[in-house]
Amino acid sequence: MIFYFSGTGNSLWVAKQLGAYFDEKLVSIADELNKEENNFQYHLADSEKVFFVFPVHSWGPAVLVLRFIEKMNLDNYSAQQVYAVCVCGDNCGYTDRIMQKELMQKNVLLTRTYSIQMPNNYILMKGFGIDTEEIKNEKLELAPSLIKEIEEDIQSGKHKNLYVSGKKSFLKSRIVYPAFKNYALGRNSFFATDACTSCGLCARVCPTNTISLVNKKPVWNNTCVQCTACIHRCPVRAIEYGKITRNQGRYHHPDM
Ligand SMILES: Cc1cc2nc3c(=O)[nH]c(=O)nc-3n(C[C@H](O)[C@H](O)[C@H](O)COP(=O)(O)O)c2cc1C
Ligand code: SF4
Ligand code: SF4
Repeated sequence: MIFYFSGTGNSLWVAKQLGAYFDEKLVSIADELNKEENNFQYHLADSEKVFFVFPVHSWGPAVLVLRFIEKMNLDNYSAQQVYAVCVCGDNCGYTDRIMQKELMQKNVLLTRTYSIQMPNNYILMKGFGIDTEEIKNEKLELAPSLIKEIEEDIQSGKHKNLYVSGKKSFLKSRIVYPAFKNYALGRNSFFATDACTSCGLCARVCPTNTISLVNKKPVWNNTCVQCTACIHRCPVRAIEYGKITRNQGRYHHPDM
């Protein structure tokens, strides 16, 4: 079973590759959470592998993953292998340790954590931005071979280090990540410009139903988790985040 969350399609692409290779079905974390149940039960076959595939947000797991794990129960879980695949733009800090701890609270042992670098989608703060066209293409070209490495690592059991924490992980994951969860989430400065055609795509792709169309224009409430799906996927580039994104590029995975 592959539990996945994705804002701009990178993690969805990774989840699909792993799902095809290991013949495991995909379960969308966002869709599950939107069922508004308090307990999600999943039955595991004896030989089933479990994956969590998600974007790294501020050097920790995208928060919907944590909200999901809190409500999740794995039926017939005993010795099945459980993997976290962190989809990042650069590096992941202690995302591996955070996942290990969260899963341990559900009595689930994380077998291994992998990371995979894909194009960057964070544009909501000064000093950050999407990759140049050249770097984006390099990352997309390299991605299939990185997936292959993960698949071989799992199949062979000869474990290599396929996880990139980067430098200053303590600062990033123990200071910045909690601050991101406490202060950035739930707030946003999104607005739609006059270029908006009222197509409603932003509202449809939002995983937290944060956006509704009022008088045919999108408005954002306070449940945003900053996944950046809306701003990157608007087909006419009509969404901005304060003044920060005016000169920023937009990105979503080409298969999306
Ligand atoms: C709020 C936010 C925070 C991010 N923080 C990090 C980070 O700490 N490290 C990193 O390498 N990439 C970071 N990124 C970039 C994404 O992890 C990366 O682009 C990922 O591939 C996006 O996956 P997706 O297309 O499945 O959403 C961040 C992106 C967002 C939106
Ligand atoms: S996706 Fe863009 S054009 Fe469509 S409703 Fe949203 S802001 Fe308007
Ligand atoms: S409002 Fe936009 S950035 Fe926030 S959760 Fe929804 S799609 Fe993601």
